[in-house]
Amino acid sequence: MADLSAQALRRGLATRFIGRDIVYLEAVPSTMEAAWEEARHGAAPGMVVVAGEQTGGRGRRGRTWIAPPGNVSLSVVLRPRLTELPRLVMLASLAVVRAVRAAMGVEAEISWPNDVLIGGRKVCGILVENEVRGREVRYAVVGIGINANLDVSRYPEIASRSTSLCAEVGGEVGLVGLIRQLIMEIDGLYPSLEEGESIYLGWRDKLVTLGELVEIDGGGGRYQAVAESVGRDGGLKVRLKDGGLKKVFAGEVTLIR
Ligand code: BTN
Repeated sequence: MADLSAQALRRGLATRFIGRDIVYLEAVPSTMEAAWEEARHGAAPGMVVVAGEQTGGRGRRGRTWIAPPGNVSLSVVLRPRLTELPRLVMLASLAVVRAVRAAMGVEAEISWPNDVLIGGRKVCGILVENEVRGREVRYAVVGIGINANLDVSRYPEIASRSTSLCAEVGGEVGLVGLIRQLIMEIDGLYPSLEEGESIYLGWRDKLVTLGELVEIDGGGGRYQAVAESVGRDGGLKVRLKDGGLKKVFAGEVTLIR
C-alpha cells in the first residue's frame, strides 16, 4: 500500500492555502467528523484531513459511503463567505474532474449537482456541510471520496452504477499523486470562489445532466422532467411534463438513460 502519510502528501506541495496543514489518519469512522473536530479546535481554513480507510463513511441523504483502504477519502476545512457557499460544490466537483484528468489522463464529467462520473458511472461523491451563524459561515467542510482502487464488483449495492479509477486505467492508482493533484486543483480554484463566474462556467461545461430526462425525488414524491439549465446559485431548472418550469435545489436527481 502507498505511503499515505501527511509528510508524503505535503512533500514539495507548493499550494498557497489548501493543504498547508494536512492531518493523516490511518483509519477513522469518517473524515467529516474528524474535520469538524479539527474545526472546533480552531483549525486554520485550508486544513485537509485524509484517511487511509473510513469505517463509517457518510454519503448524501444519510447514505453510507464505502471507503476501504485504496480509496481517496478526505475532507477540507474552509471558511467561505455566505454568498460563496453555493459555489463550493461546483468548485469541489470541478477540482476532481481536473485532478483525474491531470493525474490519470481520464476524462470525467459531472452529474448535477456534484457526482463525478466516468462513462456514466459514479467514481466520486462529494458532501458539503456548513455551520452558519447569522450571516457568518463559521466553517464549511467539503468531503471528497474517490473510488480509486475499489473493486466495485465486490459491492452489489453500488456495482451497477459505479466505477473505480483502477478499472478505468487498468491498474493500481497511486494515491499520493492523485491526492496531491486534487489539493492543487482545489487551491488553484479557491481564489476564484468570490468572483465565481469562472467556477460556475467550468462546472456547467462539465455537466452531463443538461438536456437529459431526469427523475427527481424531492421528498414530495418522484417525478420525471427534462433538465434545461443551471443557475449561478446552483439550482437546476427542469421542464415538467405539463410544460411548466421548476427550479430544484435539493433532493435526488437521477439521469434516465
Ligand atoms: C455522496 O455521493 O453521497 C457523497 C459521498 C461523500 C463521501 C466522502 S469520503 C470523505 C468524506 N467523509 C465521509 O464520510 N464522506 C465524505
